[in-house]
Amino acid sequence: PLPQPFQVPLPLPPVLKPVSRDGGVDRYEIVQRASTAEILPGLRTPIWGYEGIFPGPTIESRSGRTTIVRHRNELPVPTVVHLHGGRTPPESDGYATDLVLPADGRYLASAGHGHSGMADPDAVVTTGTREYTYPLRQKAAMLWYHDHRMDFTGPAVYRGLAGLHIVRDAEEDALPLPRGERELPLMITDRAFAEDGSMRYPSLDPSLRIVPGVEDAYAAGVLGDVLLVNGAPWPVAEVSATRYRLRFLNGSNARRYDLALTPPPPSGPSFTQIGSDQGLLDAPRAHEHLPIAPAERYDTVVDFGAYPLGTEVTLVNRLGTGSTAQVMRFRVTRRANDDSHVPAKLSEVERLDRAQATVTREFAFRSGQFNGRHGWTIGGEAFTPTKVAAQPKLGDVEIWRFVADLHHPIHLHLVHFQVLSRGGKDPAPHDVGRKDTVDLQPGEAVEVIARFDGYRGRYMFHCHNAEHEDMGMMATFKTV
Ligand code: C2O
Ligand code: CU
Repeated sequence: PLPQPFQVPLPLPPVLKPVSRDGGVDRYEIVQRASTAEILPGLRTPIWGYEGIFPGPTIESRSGRTTIVRHRNELPVPTVVHLHGGRTPPESDGYATDLVLPADGRYLASAGHGHSGMADPDAVVTTGTREYTYPLRQKAAMLWYHDHRMDFTGPAVYRGLAGLHIVRDAEEDALPLPRGERELPLMITDRAFAEDGSMRYPSLDPSLRIVPGVEDAYAAGVLGDVLLVNGAPWPVAEVSATRYRLRFLNGSNARRYDLALTPPPPSGPSFTQIGSDQGLLDAPRAHEHLPIAPAERYDTVVDFGAYPLGTEVTLVNRLGTGSTAQVMRFRVTRRANDDSHVPAKLSEVERLDRAQATVTREFAFRSGQFNGRHGWTIGGEAFTPTKVAAQPKLGDVEIWRFVADLHHPIHLHLVHFQVLSRGGKDPAPHDVGRKDTVDLQPGEAVEVIARFDGYRGRYMFHCHNAEHEDMGMMATFKTV
Protein backbone atom coordinates (compact mmCIF):
# COMPACT_ATOMS: atom_id res chain seq x y z
CA PRO A 1 0.00 0.00 0.00
CA LEU A 2 1.18 3.52 -0.79
CA PRO A 3 1.62 5.99 2.08
CA GLN A 4 -0.97 8.70 2.71
CA PRO A 5 -0.04 11.88 0.85
CA PHE A 6 0.70 15.20 2.55
CA GLN A 7 1.87 13.72 5.87
CA VAL A 8 5.64 14.11 5.60
CA PRO A 9 7.08 17.64 5.97
CA LEU A 10 8.96 18.86 2.91
CA PRO A 11 12.67 18.23 3.51
CA LEU A 12 15.34 20.56 2.17
CA PRO A 13 18.67 18.97 1.28
CA PRO A 14 21.44 20.21 3.61
CA VAL A 15 23.82 22.78 2.17
CA LEU A 16 27.34 21.34 1.98
CA LYS A 17 30.07 23.14 3.92
CA PRO A 18 33.28 23.84 2.02
CA VAL A 19 36.46 22.34 3.44
CA SER A 20 38.19 25.58 2.52
CA ARG A 21 37.55 28.94 0.91
CA ASP A 22 40.54 30.87 -0.28
CA GLY A 23 41.98 32.74 -3.23
CA GLY A 24 38.73 32.70 -5.16
CA VAL A 25 38.40 28.93 -4.78
CA ASP A 26 35.88 26.99 -2.71
CA ARG A 27 36.77 23.35 -2.08
CA TYR A 28 34.32 20.61 -1.25
CA GLU A 29 34.56 16.88 -0.59
CA ILE A 30 31.85 14.35 -1.33
CA VAL A 31 31.87 10.64 -0.60
CA GLN A 32 29.65 8.52 -2.82
CA ARG A 33 28.43 5.61 -0.76
CA ALA A 34 25.72 3.07 -0.18
CA SER A 35 23.38 3.78 2.69
CA THR A 36 19.72 3.54 3.64
CA ALA A 37 17.01 6.17 3.88
CA GLU A 38 13.54 6.21 5.38
CA ILE A 39 11.62 7.28 2.30
CA LEU A 40 8.40 5.40 2.97
CA PRO A 41 7.42 5.74 6.64
CA GLY A 42 8.71 2.78 8.70
CA LEU A 43 10.78 1.20 5.91
CA ARG A 44 14.51 1.36 5.17
CA THR A 45 15.33 1.85 1.51
CA PRO A 46 18.85 0.99 0.32
CA ILE A 47 20.20 3.91 -1.68
CA TRP A 48 23.37 5.17 -3.29
CA GLY A 49 23.97 8.73 -2.26
CA TYR A 50 26.39 11.62 -2.43
CA GLU A 51 27.40 11.74 1.24
CA GLY A 52 25.02 8.78 1.60
CA ILE A 53 21.86 10.90 1.24
CA PHE A 54 19.20 11.43 -1.43
CA PRO A 55 19.06 14.07 -2.73
CA GLY A 56 22.74 14.72 -2.20
CA PRO A 57 23.84 17.83 -0.32
CA THR A 58 23.25 21.14 -2.09
CA ILE A 59 26.31 23.08 -3.17
CA GLU A 60 25.96 26.87 -3.14
CA SER A 61 28.44 28.71 -5.32
CA ARG A 62 29.12 32.25 -6.44
CA SER A 63 29.32 32.94 -10.13
CA GLY A 64 32.95 33.49 -11.15
CA ARG A 65 34.43 31.79 -8.07
CA THR A 66 35.92 28.41 -8.82
CA THR A 67 34.33 25.48 -7.05
CA ILE A 68 36.41 22.32 -6.76
CA VAL A 69 34.64 19.15 -5.66
CA ARG A 70 36.68 16.12 -4.73
CA HIS A 71 34.56 13.00 -5.11
CA ARG A 72 35.50 9.70 -3.54
CA ASN A 73 33.80 6.60 -4.92
CA GLU A 74 33.01 4.05 -2.21
CA LEU A 75 30.36 2.36 -4.35
CA PRO A 76 30.85 -1.09 -5.90
CA VAL A 77 30.78 0.25 -9.48
CA PRO A 78 32.52 3.03 -11.40
CA THR A 79 30.90 6.45 -11.33
CA VAL A 80 31.10 9.69 -13.30
CA VAL A 81 29.95 13.08 -11.99
CA HIS A 82 28.38 15.63 -14.32
CA LEU A 83 27.33 19.14 -13.29
CA HIS A 84 24.21 19.58 -15.40
CA GLY A 85 24.06 23.13 -16.76
CA GLY A 86 27.65 23.83 -15.80
CA ARG A 87 29.95 25.63 -18.20
CA THR A 88 32.78 23.29 -17.40
CA PRO A 89 36.16 22.43 -18.93
CA PRO A 90 35.98 19.03 -20.65
CA GLU A 91 38.21 17.20 -18.17
CA SER A 92 35.75 18.03 -15.37
CA ASP A 93 32.53 17.69 -17.33
CA GLY A 94 31.99 14.02 -16.59
CA TYR A 95 32.28 12.52 -20.04
CA ALA A 96 30.57 9.13 -19.81
CA THR A 97 33.77 7.08 -20.00
CA ASP A 98 35.87 9.28 -17.67
CA LEU A 99 35.29 6.80 -14.89
CA VAL A 100 36.12 7.03 -11.23
CA LEU A 101 36.74 3.42 -10.31
CA PRO A 102 35.72 2.20 -6.86
CA ALA A 103 38.14 3.16 -4.11
CA ASP A 104 38.54 -0.41 -2.88
CA GLY A 105 40.56 -1.14 -6.03
CA ARG A 106 38.92 -4.51 -6.60
CA TYR A 107 36.96 -3.44 -9.63
CA LEU A 108 38.02 -4.79 -12.99
CA ALA A 109 38.61 -1.70 -15.12
CA SER A 110 38.03 -3.48 -18.40
CA ALA A 111 34.47 -4.32 -17.42
CA GLY A 112 33.69 -0.68 -16.75
CA HIS A 113 33.97 0.57 -20.29
CA GLY A 114 30.42 -0.19 -21.21
CA HIS A 115 28.71 -2.76 -23.34
CA SER A 116 30.62 -5.20 -25.51
CA GLY A 117 33.77 -4.24 -23.58
CA MET A 118 34.04 -1.20 -25.82
CA ALA A 119 37.24 0.66 -25.08
CA ASP A 120 37.61 4.41 -25.33
CA PRO A 121 41.26 5.38 -25.83
CA ASP A 122 40.50 8.99 -24.87
CA ALA A 123 38.91 8.17 -21.53
CA VAL A 124 40.65 9.48 -18.43
CA VAL A 125 40.05 6.89 -15.74
CA THR A 126 40.99 7.41 -12.10
CA THR A 127 40.79 5.09 -9.13
CA GLY A 128 39.03 6.04 -5.93
CA THR A 129 38.90 9.82 -6.20
CA ARG A 130 38.70 12.62 -8.70
CA GLU A 131 38.70 16.39 -8.48
CA TYR A 132 36.14 18.19 -10.57
CA THR A 133 36.89 21.87 -11.21
CA TYR A 134 34.02 24.24 -11.96
CA PRO A 135 35.09 27.78 -12.92
CA LEU A 136 31.37 28.77 -12.99
CA ARG A 137 31.84 31.64 -15.40
CA GLN A 138 28.10 31.75 -15.86
CA LYS A 139 25.00 33.43 -14.53
CA ALA A 140 23.12 32.56 -11.38
CA ALA A 141 21.02 29.42 -11.94
CA MET A 142 19.93 26.22 -10.29
CA LEU A 143 22.12 23.45 -11.70
CA TRP A 144 22.25 19.86 -10.55
CA TYR A 145 24.88 17.18 -10.37
CA HIS A 146 24.27 13.53 -11.09
CA ASP A 147 25.91 10.32 -12.18
CA HIS A 148 26.69 10.02 -15.89
CA ARG A 149 28.42 6.67 -16.41
CA MET A 150 28.05 5.26 -19.91
CA ASP A 151 25.17 2.75 -20.10
CA PHE A 152 24.34 2.95 -16.37
CA THR A 153 23.21 6.50 -15.63
CA GLY A 154 19.53 5.54 -15.22
CA PRO A 155 19.91 2.99 -12.43
CA ALA A 156 22.62 5.00 -10.63
CA VAL A 157 20.53 8.17 -10.54
CA TYR A 158 17.45 6.15 -9.62
CA ARG A 159 19.31 4.77 -6.58
CA GLY A 160 19.96 8.35 -5.50
CA LEU A 161 23.03 9.85 -7.17
CA ALA A 162 21.65 13.36 -7.75
CA GLY A 163 21.94 16.69 -5.94
CA LEU A 164 21.44 20.42 -6.47
CA HIS A 165 24.11 23.00 -7.21
CA ILE A 166 22.87 26.56 -6.92
CA VAL A 167 24.92 29.36 -8.46
CA ARG A 168 24.28 32.90 -7.24
CA ASP A 169 25.48 36.27 -8.47
CA ALA A 170 25.26 39.99 -7.74
CA GLU A 171 22.62 40.64 -10.40
CA GLU A 172 20.23 38.19 -8.75
CA ASP A 173 21.14 39.37 -5.22
CA ALA A 174 20.06 42.90 -6.16
CA LEU A 175 16.52 41.80 -7.03
CA PRO A 176 13.81 41.96 -4.33
CA LEU A 177 12.88 38.29 -4.76
CA PRO A 178 11.69 36.08 -1.89
CA ARG A 179 14.74 34.61 -0.16
CA GLY A 180 15.90 32.67 2.86
CA GLU A 181 13.20 30.28 4.05
CA ARG A 182 10.93 31.64 1.30
CA GLU A 183 13.11 30.13 -1.39
CA LEU A 184 12.39 26.43 -1.87
CA PRO A 185 14.32 24.19 -4.26
CA LEU A 186 12.02 21.33 -5.28
CA MET A 187 13.53 18.25 -6.91
CA ILE A 188 10.68 16.13 -8.21
CA THR A 189 11.28 12.42 -8.91
CA ASP A 190 9.21 9.27 -9.21
CA ARG A 191 10.19 5.88 -7.85
CA ALA A 192 8.72 2.39 -7.59
CA PHE A 193 9.21 0.39 -4.41
CA ALA A 194 9.05 -3.28 -3.50
CA GLU A 195 7.20 -4.48 -0.39
CA ASP A 196 10.39 -4.32 1.72
CA GLY A 197 11.01 -0.68 0.82
CA SER A 198 13.75 -1.30 -1.74
CA MET A 199 13.56 0.56 -5.04
CA ARG A 200 12.46 -1.43 -8.05
CA TYR A 201 14.49 -0.81 -11.18
CA PRO A 202 14.28 -3.36 -14.01
CA SER A 203 17.98 -3.57 -14.91
CA LEU A 204 19.03 -6.45 -17.13
CA ASP A 205 22.13 -6.65 -14.93
CA PRO A 206 21.29 -5.68 -11.33
CA SER A 207 25.01 -5.56 -10.48
CA LEU A 208 25.23 -2.57 -12.87
CA ARG A 209 28.59 -3.86 -14.01
CA ILE A 210 28.45 -5.47 -17.42
CA VAL A 211 25.14 -5.64 -19.27
CA PRO A 212 23.45 -2.29 -19.89
CA GLY A 213 19.78 -1.60 -20.39
CA VAL A 214 16.43 -2.49 -18.89
CA GLU A 215 13.86 -5.18 -19.56
CA ASP A 216 12.11 -4.63 -22.90
CA ALA A 217 8.85 -3.65 -21.21
CA TYR A 218 10.62 -0.57 -19.79
CA ALA A 219 12.61 0.44 -22.87
CA ALA A 220 10.53 3.63 -23.19
CA GLY A 221 11.63 4.67 -19.69
CA VAL A 222 11.25 3.62 -16.07
CA LEU A 223 8.31 5.19 -14.21
CA GLY A 224 7.37 4.90 -10.56
CA ASP A 225 4.04 5.29 -8.79
CA VAL A 226 5.45 7.23 -5.81
CA LEU A 227 6.20 10.90 -6.36
CA LEU A 228 8.99 12.34 -4.23
CA VAL A 229 9.90 15.96 -3.67
CA ASN A 230 13.42 16.33 -2.25
CA GLY A 231 13.25 12.62 -1.54
CA ALA A 232 9.99 12.63 0.45
CA PRO A 233 6.69 11.13 -0.77
CA TRP A 234 3.99 13.75 -1.51
CA PRO A 235 5.29 16.10 1.20
CA VAL A 236 3.54 19.06 2.75
CA ALA A 237 5.02 22.51 3.43
CA GLU A 238 3.53 25.09 5.76
CA VAL A 239 3.89 28.51 4.20
CA SER A 240 3.07 32.05 5.21
CA ALA A 241 0.63 34.09 3.14
CA THR A 242 3.49 35.67 1.19
CA ARG A 243 5.42 35.22 -2.02
CA TYR A 244 7.71 32.20 -2.29
CA ARG A 245 10.38 31.44 -4.81
CA LEU A 246 9.77 27.86 -5.94
CA ARG A 247 12.63 26.40 -7.98
CA PHE A 248 11.50 23.27 -9.76
CA LEU A 249 13.73 20.54 -11.15
CA ASN A 250 12.38 17.42 -12.77
CA GLY A 251 14.98 14.89 -11.60
CA SER A 252 12.98 11.88 -12.80
CA ASN A 253 14.44 9.32 -15.17
CA ALA A 254 11.58 9.37 -17.65
CA ARG A 255 8.44 10.95 -16.22
CA ARG A 256 7.16 14.25 -17.56
CA TYR A 257 4.86 16.42 -15.47
CA ASP A 258 2.50 19.28 -16.12
CA LEU A 259 2.47 21.20 -12.85
CA ALA A 260 -0.49 23.31 -11.74
CA LEU A 261 -1.95 24.64 -8.47
CA THR A 262 -5.30 23.42 -7.16
CA PRO A 263 -7.11 25.59 -6.35
CA PRO A 264 -5.55 28.28 -8.51
CA PRO A 265 -5.18 31.60 -6.69
CA PRO A 266 -8.38 33.72 -6.62
CA SER A 267 -6.42 36.53 -8.26
CA GLY A 268 -3.17 36.74 -10.17
CA PRO A 269 -1.30 34.02 -12.01
CA SER A 270 -0.50 30.62 -10.50
CA PHE A 271 3.18 30.84 -11.39
CA THR A 272 5.25 33.88 -12.24
CA GLN A 273 8.24 32.44 -14.05
CA ILE A 274 11.42 34.38 -13.37
CA GLY A 275 14.00 31.93 -14.69
CA SER A 276 14.60 28.98 -16.89
CA ASP A 277 17.16 26.13 -16.92
CA GLN A 278 20.11 28.50 -16.95
CA GLY A 279 19.05 31.55 -15.03
CA LEU A 280 16.88 34.63 -14.99
CA LEU A 281 14.56 35.64 -17.80
CA ASP A 282 14.68 39.17 -19.19
CA ALA A 283 11.19 39.77 -17.77
CA PRO A 284 8.72 37.67 -15.79
CA ARG A 285 6.13 35.49 -17.55
CA ALA A 286 2.79 34.34 -16.09
CA HIS A 287 1.79 30.67 -16.41
CA GLU A 288 -1.17 28.63 -15.23
CA HIS A 289 0.74 25.39 -15.72
CA LEU A 290 4.34 24.28 -16.22
CA PRO A 291 5.13 21.33 -18.46
CA ILE A 292 8.43 19.92 -17.22
CA ALA A 293 10.45 17.11 -18.80
CA PRO A 294 13.39 15.30 -17.19
CA ALA A 295 16.25 17.70 -16.31
CA GLU A 296 14.29 20.87 -17.05
CA ARG A 297 14.05 23.61 -14.39
CA TYR A 298 11.67 26.48 -13.77
CA ASP A 299 12.42 29.30 -11.39
CA THR A 300 9.08 30.74 -10.25
CA VAL A 301 7.42 32.98 -7.71
CA VAL A 302 4.10 31.85 -6.25
CA ASP A 303 2.09 34.33 -4.18
CA PHE A 304 0.45 32.39 -1.35
CA GLY A 305 -0.76 35.80 -0.10
CA ALA A 306 -3.44 35.60 -2.79
CA TYR A 307 -5.11 32.72 -0.87
CA PRO A 308 -7.26 33.02 2.27
CA LEU A 309 -5.48 31.77 5.42
CA GLY A 310 -6.01 28.08 5.97
CA THR A 311 -6.12 27.20 2.27
CA GLU A 312 -4.54 23.90 1.26
CA VAL A 313 -2.93 24.37 -2.13
CA THR A 314 -2.02 21.17 -3.94
CA LEU A 315 0.70 21.06 -6.56
CA VAL A 316 -0.87 18.69 -9.07
CA ASN A 317 0.47 16.89 -12.13
CA ARG A 318 -1.99 17.22 -14.98
CA LEU A 319 -0.27 14.38 -16.85
CA GLY A 320 -0.67 11.95 -13.96
CA THR A 321 -3.43 9.59 -12.90
CA GLY A 322 -4.09 8.10 -9.47
CA SER A 323 -1.04 8.40 -7.23
CA THR A 324 0.94 10.38 -9.80
CA ALA A 325 -1.69 13.13 -10.22
CA GLN A 326 -0.56 14.91 -7.05
CA VAL A 327 2.93 16.08 -6.22
CA MET A 328 2.88 17.93 -2.90
CA ARG A 329 0.83 20.35 -0.82
CA PHE A 330 1.27 23.82 0.64
CA ARG A 331 -0.69 24.84 3.72
CA VAL A 332 -1.13 28.60 4.06
CA THR A 333 -0.96 28.88 7.82
CA ARG A 334 0.00 32.40 8.89
CA ARG A 335 0.17 36.01 7.92
CA ALA A 336 3.57 37.66 7.60
CA ASN A 337 5.20 40.75 6.21
CA ASP A 338 6.24 40.52 2.61
CA ASP A 339 8.52 43.12 1.14
CA SER A 340 9.43 40.98 -1.87
CA HIS A 341 8.17 41.62 -5.35
CA VAL A 342 8.88 40.56 -8.89
CA PRO A 343 10.34 43.45 -10.86
CA ALA A 344 9.28 44.01 -14.46
CA LYS A 345 12.89 43.71 -15.57
CA LEU A 346 14.94 40.82 -14.26
CA SER A 347 18.07 40.42 -16.32
CA GLU A 348 19.86 41.22 -19.52
CA VAL A 349 19.41 38.24 -21.83
CA GLU A 350 21.33 38.25 -25.08
CA ARG A 351 19.09 37.20 -27.92
CA LEU A 352 20.74 35.15 -30.64
CA ASP A 353 19.51 35.72 -34.14
CA ARG A 354 19.22 33.25 -37.01
CA ALA A 355 21.47 35.46 -39.10
CA GLN A 356 24.35 34.91 -36.65
CA ALA A 357 24.42 31.16 -37.23
CA THR A 358 27.28 29.77 -39.32
CA VAL A 359 25.68 26.37 -39.81
CA THR A 360 22.48 24.41 -39.24
CA ARG A 361 22.84 20.79 -38.18
CA GLU A 362 20.07 18.27 -37.98
CA PHE A 363 19.79 15.34 -35.59
CA ALA A 364 17.05 12.71 -35.61
CA PHE A 365 16.14 11.09 -32.29
CA ARG A 366 14.53 7.74 -33.00
CA SER A 367 14.17 4.23 -31.73
CA GLY A 368 16.62 1.73 -33.17
CA GLN A 369 19.04 -1.03 -32.32
CA PHE A 370 21.24 -1.03 -29.24
CA ASN A 371 23.44 -3.93 -28.25
CA GLY A 372 21.28 -6.35 -30.24
CA ARG A 373 18.05 -5.22 -28.56
CA HIS A 374 15.50 -2.47 -28.82
CA GLY A 375 17.16 0.84 -28.09
CA TRP A 376 17.49 4.47 -29.12
CA THR A 377 19.61 6.35 -31.62
CA ILE A 378 20.74 9.78 -32.76
CA GLY A 379 21.10 10.03 -36.52
CA GLY A 380 20.57 6.29 -36.74
CA GLU A 381 23.49 5.45 -34.44
CA ALA A 382 23.76 4.29 -30.86
CA PHE A 383 26.37 6.02 -28.68
CA THR A 384 29.99 5.22 -29.46
CA PRO A 385 32.48 7.40 -27.54
CA THR A 386 35.01 7.44 -30.36
CA LYS A 387 32.52 8.91 -32.87
CA VAL A 388 32.16 12.69 -33.11
CA ALA A 389 28.80 13.89 -34.42
CA ALA A 390 29.60 17.60 -34.67
CA GLN A 391 32.61 19.91 -34.38
CA PRO A 392 31.48 23.47 -33.75
CA LYS A 393 34.21 26.11 -33.82
CA LEU A 394 34.73 27.69 -30.44
CA GLY A 395 32.70 30.89 -30.31
CA ASP A 396 30.53 30.09 -33.32
CA VAL A 397 26.77 30.39 -33.24
CA GLU A 398 24.97 27.35 -34.63
CA ILE A 399 21.39 26.25 -35.16
CA TRP A 400 20.69 22.66 -34.18
CA ARG A 401 17.49 21.18 -35.52
CA PHE A 402 16.14 18.17 -33.67
CA VAL A 403 13.48 15.82 -34.98
CA ALA A 404 11.85 13.17 -32.84
CA ASP A 405 9.76 10.04 -33.19
CA LEU A 406 8.49 10.17 -29.59
CA HIS A 407 8.99 12.39 -26.53
CA HIS A 408 12.70 13.11 -26.06
CA PRO A 409 14.05 15.80 -23.70
CA ILE A 410 17.29 16.82 -25.44
CA HIS A 411 20.19 18.19 -23.41
CA LEU A 412 23.43 19.79 -24.56
CA HIS A 413 26.44 20.00 -22.30
CA LEU A 414 28.62 23.13 -22.08
CA VAL A 415 26.24 25.61 -23.69
CA HIS A 416 22.89 27.19 -23.10
CA PHE A 417 20.54 27.72 -25.99
CA GLN A 418 17.38 29.51 -27.03
CA VAL A 419 14.48 27.71 -28.64
CA LEU A 420 13.97 29.23 -32.10
CA SER A 421 10.99 27.25 -33.28
CA ARG A 422 8.79 24.34 -32.31
CA GLY A 423 6.85 22.34 -34.89
CA GLY A 424 7.58 24.99 -37.52
CA LYS A 425 5.95 27.69 -35.38
CA ASP A 426 7.09 30.08 -32.68
CA PRO A 427 8.40 28.49 -29.48
CA ALA A 428 5.84 27.60 -26.80
CA PRO A 429 5.42 29.97 -23.80
CA HIS A 430 7.42 27.62 -21.55
CA ASP A 431 10.37 27.50 -24.02
CA VAL A 432 11.42 30.99 -22.98
CA GLY A 433 14.86 31.87 -21.67
CA ARG A 434 18.27 30.32 -21.41
CA LYS A 435 17.69 26.60 -21.78
CA ASP A 436 19.91 23.53 -21.68
CA THR A 437 17.20 20.92 -22.13
CA VAL A 438 14.27 21.04 -24.52
CA ASP A 439 11.42 18.55 -24.66
CA LEU A 440 10.63 17.28 -28.15
CA GLN A 441 7.06 16.16 -28.69
CA PRO A 442 6.31 13.10 -30.85
CA GLY A 443 6.88 13.79 -34.53
CA GLU A 444 7.99 17.34 -33.86
CA ALA A 445 10.97 19.35 -35.04
CA VAL A 446 12.56 21.89 -32.70
CA GLU A 447 15.28 24.37 -33.61
CA VAL A 448 17.64 25.76 -31.00
CA ILE A 449 20.40 28.32 -31.35
CA ALA A 450 23.54 28.38 -29.23
CA ARG A 451 26.96 29.97 -29.07
CA PHE A 452 29.52 27.22 -28.60
CA ASP A 453 31.58 29.21 -26.18
CA GLY A 454 33.71 28.38 -23.20
CA TYR A 455 36.19 25.56 -23.63
CA ARG A 456 37.63 23.38 -26.35
CA GLY A 457 37.10 19.68 -26.03
CA ARG A 458 34.81 16.71 -25.99
CA TYR A 459 31.24 17.03 -24.73
CA MET A 460 28.03 15.04 -24.92
CA PHE A 461 24.52 15.74 -26.02
CA HIS A 462 21.75 13.29 -25.42
CA CYS A 463 18.20 12.49 -24.56
CA HIS A 464 17.67 13.04 -20.82
CA ASN A 465 15.21 10.23 -20.57
CA ALA A 466 17.82 8.26 -18.65
CA GLU A 467 16.79 4.91 -20.12
CA HIS A 468 16.98 6.28 -23.67
CA GLU A 469 20.37 7.77 -22.85
CA ASP A 470 21.66 4.46 -21.45
CA MET A 471 20.38 2.53 -24.45
CA GLY A 472 22.15 4.52 -27.13
CA MET A 473 20.59 7.98 -27.37
CA MET A 474 23.74 9.98 -26.75
CA ALA A 475 26.38 11.50 -29.01
CA THR A 476 29.58 13.52 -28.83
CA PHE A 477 30.38 17.01 -30.03
CA LYS A 478 33.79 18.57 -29.99
CA THR A 479 34.38 22.29 -29.76
CA VAL A 480 37.47 22.98 -31.86
CU1 C2O B 1 21.84 15.98 -16.76
CU2 C2O B 1 24.37 14.81 -19.76
O1 C2O B 1 23.13 15.35 -18.23
CU1 CU C 1 14.50 9.99 -25.50
